[in-house]
Amino acid sequence: MEPESNQPAVPDPRAASEVPSGETPCIVVTGLRKRFSDGEVLRGIDLVIRRGELVGFTGRSGSGKSTLLHILGGLDRGYEGKVSLLGQDLATLSDRALANLRNRHIGFVFQAFHLLTHLSCLDNVLLPNAFAQEPLGRMQAEERAMAALTRVGLADRRHSRPSELSGGQKQRVAIARALLFQPEVLLCDEPTGNLDDFTGQQIIDLFVELNRDGLTMVLVTHEPRVAQATTRLLSLQNGLMVPPQSLEPSR
Ligand SMILES: Nc1ncnc2c1ncn2[C@@H]1O[C@H](COP(=O)(O)OP(=O)(O)OP(=O)(O)O)[C@@H](O)[C@H]1O
Ligand SMILES: [Mg+2]
Repeated sequence: MEPESNQPAVPDPRAASEVPSGETPCIVVTGLRKRFSDGEVLRGIDLVIRRGELVGFTGRSGSGKSTLLHILGGLDRGYEGKVSLLGQDLATLSDRALANLRNRHIGFVFQAFHLLTHLSCLDNVLLPNAFAQEPLGRMQAEERAMAALTRVGLADRRHSRPSELSGGQKQRVAIARALLFQPEVLLCDEPTGNLDDFTGQQIIDLFVELNRDGLTMVLVTHEPRVAQATTRLLSLQNGLMVPPQSLEPSR
């Protein structure tokens, strides 16, 4: 969709991500609009994210970053336009098929970790299996959960409760939970927002490693140092996606 005529001319963010013919992009968004009762938050987003990218979204508070991330992840179906994830138009999927796509192929990481305090780290990581339509057997699921905890460096804390962990460790457990089913894409909403600089940097380093191992990542952030880790940085302004003026990705 073309930007509205009262918008400044900006480079087309899609140009940064030309997709060779035959490749199915991870995410394709066309003409995405989202309206809440007090107005339109997304006003015609066009976006292609290729497999293997680590895309950062910036934008001032209230610009619609979380709203967009929720739509990309199939958490919010109330939009106009088209959103395809891994080649599937989300609007054409039944609720059950969408839930399965989310469960198996998308990982979510949030600022506030959202761990269940009465469960061990291992059981927190196993949670997506509890919600799976075709859950793995306990032994196989535990093997995967241990592999995910090992990946984030916390295998030895598997029996700890979240209350016994630091903020950075809690976020690592949340990342391990998101990795349980080895998703193709990880959607992260300000994942370092509750962490100090040092701990936040360790989480960023982990994301960069996961991305180098092939995981596609979309990362909402306010923090320039997180933005520096991205392979492409975009900003939401006036309900449209534009390349940011002030931050340049270093990778
Ligand atoms: N469920 C909702 N109902 C009504 N309005 C909403 C809802 N969710 C978000 N909004 C509005 O949509 C706009 C965008 O919100 P969103 O949470 O996506 O912003 P954001 O860019 O993530 O902000 P922040 O950086 O503070 O997290 C805001 O004006 C917000 O008030
Ligand atoms: Mg937000």
